[in-house]
Amino acid sequence: MISIKQFFKWCSILATLITLSTNFYIYTYPSAYPAKCSWYCAEEGPEFDASSLSIFAQAIYYTKRYLKDVYEQNVIGVEPPKGSEDGGPEDVHIIAFGDPQIKGIWHGTDYNTRLDIYGNDYYLGHIVSVMQQRLKPSHVAVLGDLFSSQWIGDSEFYNRTSRYLTRLFHRDTSWIESVRDRQHDDNGLYKVQWMEWGQDLNKQCEAEKPWDLEFGYSDVHSWDHNKEDYLFINVTGNHDIGYSGDTTYQHLARYAQLFGKDNYWIEYDRDTDHPWRIVVLNSLLLEGPALQPEFLDITWEFLTQLAERNFEGSTVLLSHVPFYKEEGLCSDGPHFDYYPETYESEPYKSNLLRSQNHLSKEVSDEVLNLVFFNNKPGIILTGHDHEGCKTYYNKDFDTNTWTASKQPTSELAIQEITVRAMMGEFDGNTGILTGHFDRSTSDWHWHFKLCPFMVQHIWWVAKIFLIVTVLLWSITFFL
Ligand SMILES: *[C@@H]1O[C@H](CO)[C@@H](O)[C@H](O)[C@H]1NC(C)=O
Ligand SMILES: *[C@@H]1O[C@H](CO)[C@@H](O)[C@H](O)[C@H]1NC(C)=O
Repeated sequence: MISIKQFFKWCSILATLITLSTNFYIYTYPSAYPAKCSWYCAEEGPEFDASSLSIFAQAIYYTKRYLKDVYEQNVIGVEPPKGSEDGGPEDVHIIAFGDPQIKGIWHGTDYNTRLDIYGNDYYLGHIVSVMQQRLKPSHVAVLGDLFSSQWIGDSEFYNRTSRYLTRLFHRDTSWIESVRDRQHDDNGLYKVQWMEWGQDLNKQCEAEKPWDLEFGYSDVHSWDHNKEDYLFINVTGNHDIGYSGDTTYQHLARYAQLFGKDNYWIEYDRDTDHPWRIVVLNSLLLEGPALQPEFLDITWEFLTQLAERNFEGSTVLLSHVPFYKEEGLCSDGPHFDYYPETYESEPYKSNLLRSQNHLSKEVSDEVLNLVFFNNKPGIILTGHDHEGCKTYYNKDFDTNTWTASKQPTSELAIQEITVRAMMGEFDGNTGILTGHFDRSTSDWHWHFKLCPFMVQHIWWVAKIFLIVTVLLWSITFFL
């Protein structure tokens, strides 16, 4: 017979092993897929296919590959390749997250859900910090649907922004606190002064075009060099500002105040032989019928000014709603929904755009023509459908229209990556985009990879077993 003490001792040892292995795994998970979870590297060959090996040989192969990468990353600390070995510019290193969709806690929310939401924030934040440490990106972009609902008040919008900043992206919140100190209700809760914001905007849009809305930047590598050496980019999603039938001045004003501009471009190295740019596009305000049609004018004005830049380089377009594609190419097919003619709860929304899976065919053609006006290669990253997908948009030069397909069929084929969601249900993905300038063709080449984590559960097991292990050892010790 084993004694109680011995029993607890064995349990503690077992729990310790589980804790160590799960925690080891969650902090080193990208090493399990070293090729998928690294920047593209020009020298990299095709991945070795281990599927022909026996199960046993496969296990050994994958374990070795995993441990080797852990060793290289964490012990030797290899730096990501810069890509400038052939005398070209350094590679562009962008990590992109699709649809975090963080949820809110209300009075009636039960404790399980509360815990789940709390844990989920840290789960997402864990992915961000592991990937940032491993990859040291030059840009971090979140492709819209930062939150899970457009039907929330200003105070909840503020509270989620605060969670987004601290728990997910480990960023400073003092500046949003100072915004709240300036704009709040009688209880000190954030309340956006959207009337003022709207009046300012309308004043600017009364002037002759081109409107001076300050859409453009150049060579920005960080919004604040003292705090960070990468550029953080937010993109509007339907859950952040609504579809165009929902978007009010309040929605846009608070987004602008806490997340910055919804439409802008950043040109890099414009006057060199290797120019490229990032275009952030608010894809929700391109078509209607919209609640505030003037917002659509602004987005189109942005696209017009963008095309008039006569930019010579390659373009990375970041937006939320994917471009038009026929049923079957991706998980989402074309779909538009409008508010009914008689809509009792909000009669002013009658017939307005209620939701969309893609941009419409006409709008897709127009946007692609304006953004890829110079017929230079580029890449598009979008979110919205959660499953993820890869498509090419092939330009027909006779008709100036673009057709989606699985393989490129035209001389100018722009790849659209719908980035698989970051949410736990979709395995906590990180999109990894490398831009490499090819000296021989004088073109930027864009390479995308998806690095999966896993469902939240292992993350939870790692955290819970840490507590269980401490408890068990304490019991064993005092018995
Ligand atoms: C936001 O957070 C503050 C401070 O924790 C709280 O008082 C307020 O009720 C929250 N807002 C909402 C809508 O829950
Ligand atoms: C994006 O949003 C975060 C969170 O509010 C903010 O810190 C950052 O400055 C925003 N980016 C821009 C370009 O405004």
